[in-house]
Amino acid sequence: MKERLQQLQQDALSALQQAEDLKALQDVRVEILGKKGSLTEVMKGMRDLSAEERPVVGSLVNTLKKEFEESFAARQLALQQQDIAAKLASEKIDVTLPGRQTATGSLHPVTLVSDEVVDIFNRLGFAVAQGPEIEQDFYNFEALNIPKDHPARDMQDTFYIGDERVLRTHTSPVQIRTMLEQQPPVRIIAPGTVYRRDSDLTHSPMFHQIEGFLVDEQVTFADLKGTLVHFLNEFFGSGHKIRFRPSFFPFTEPSAEVDIECVICNGEGCRVCGKTGWLEILGCGMIDPEVFASVNYDAEKFNGFAFGMGLERLAMLKYGVNDLRLFFENDLRFLKQF
Ligand code: FA5
Ligand code: MG
Repeated sequence: MKERLQQLQQDALSALQQAEDLKALQDVRVEILGKKGSLTEVMKGMRDLSAEERPVVGSLVNTLKKEFEESFAARQLALQQQDIAAKLASEKIDVTLPGRQTATGSLHPVTLVSDEVVDIFNRLGFAVAQGPEIEQDFYNFEALNIPKDHPARDMQDTFYIGDERVLRTHTSPVQIRTMLEQQPPVRIIAPGTVYRRDSDLTHSPMFHQIEGFLVDEQVTFADLKGTLVHFLNEFFGSGHKIRFRPSFFPFTEPSAEVDIECVICNGEGCRVCGKTGWLEILGCGMIDPEVFASVNYDAEKFNGFAFGMGLERLAMLKYGVNDLRLFFENDLRFLKQF
């Protein structure tokens, strides 16, 4: 019996040493001390021993069990440390590697253009003003001398919200809001979002305009022309042909639209300029006395000019973009170029 136990001890200890990982180590423990383990079997067999043998074998078994547990614990610790070491080696972080770049956003091309236009007019003494996108009929139409039966009110163009409110169709209502609050002289530049029932290569149902106007004594059409030519030279660089073409707006008299030689085809004629070689970028004119009447300005004493331009149109020309809808698709490959 004693020899059997010694053999068992030798086998058990060498099995512990041979266990390559924690799982194998647990298996060895089960083989020795589990329900059907070899040492367990020995202990079960003790009741068949004589009264003299029992305490001798009992103490041997206890010693053996104790030694096994100690060896087991030592081996377990060694294997655990081995695991940690392996993990540390494989998951090592090289702190000298360059960091991962986080993508930073950039300003939208329409915002860039808006900021630049505002900046140019700021330098001419124009201050920034804003108005609501949901606008009252009075400011969007009535006070701008657009009577109820005017074609610009056609349901085709305007998004109505009930009878008295609209999504503003242009930034011109900011003229009315400002003039009702301030006395001349006023010099205002007003960028903003506007809405129309429109959609094609050069028209979008939501787009941006920038309104500018000036009211003072003895303002002439030459002042308007000089201001706009200065602006266009600053914005596009000098050397592009510009033309003032007579036009009509209910809130200006006389009125004009300004075209610039198509920057995409240099005036040759292309898809973007409709083969004309020219692109309309803004509407302008001398503020109509009817408008002054609706804001209680003295039309005998004061006069002024106003203009409104499409910011997407300016961005298309400045950056050579041939489809306005690209500005609203949020394709990062497009936006990243600005
Ligand atoms: C106006 O909106 C007038 N309020 C401009 C004005 C202001 C005239 C002050 C006189 C005095 P118009 O509808 O032409 O005018 O629009 C002005 C500019 O907005 C156009 O030249 C064009 O550049 C741009 N635009 C018009 N509709 C769209 C659209 N659907 N999508 C993108 N840009 C547009
Ligand atoms: Mg127009």
